[in-house]
Amino acid sequence: MECLASAAGDLCWCQTYAADDFGEDFLNRYGWCEFVGMRGLVKSQRLACGVLMLAPHTTYPAHRHVDEEIYIPISGAARWWRRGDSWKAVEPGTPIHHPSGISHAVKTDTAPLAALYLWREGDLTQKSLIC
Ligand SMILES: [Fe+2]
Repeated sequence: MECLASAAGDLCWCQTYAADDFGEDFLNRYGWCEFVGMRGLVKSQRLACGVLMLAPHTTYPAHRHVDEEIYIPISGAARWWRRGDSWKAVEPGTPIHHPSGISHAVKTDTAPLAALYLWREGDLTQKSLIC
């Protein structure tokens, strides 16, 4: 996490959504940086990998996408939800799996969340569908 924090100012942070999707406040509290993928430094059309950042007290609302997704939180406890399950507190280092097409969401508490993400299959630049 210290390495990410020290490099944060030099990384290319992106956002998938617009204010019409989840509101302007969400855009001030969310971003991601892709390391591998169609938008990453290392090009790949088969997978995307990067880091998601969420500010404290932020809800990343329910969404879904064709791509299968794995998150590995690296800093900050958060609660994660996917359709068919209840909200679960997940500690850093515990992987979270979202199968293709399943609705899912995440909420931070008092700490910011940094989580590695991995996407595979589907259109790696596809905007998620809001549920
Ligand atoms: Fe997702």
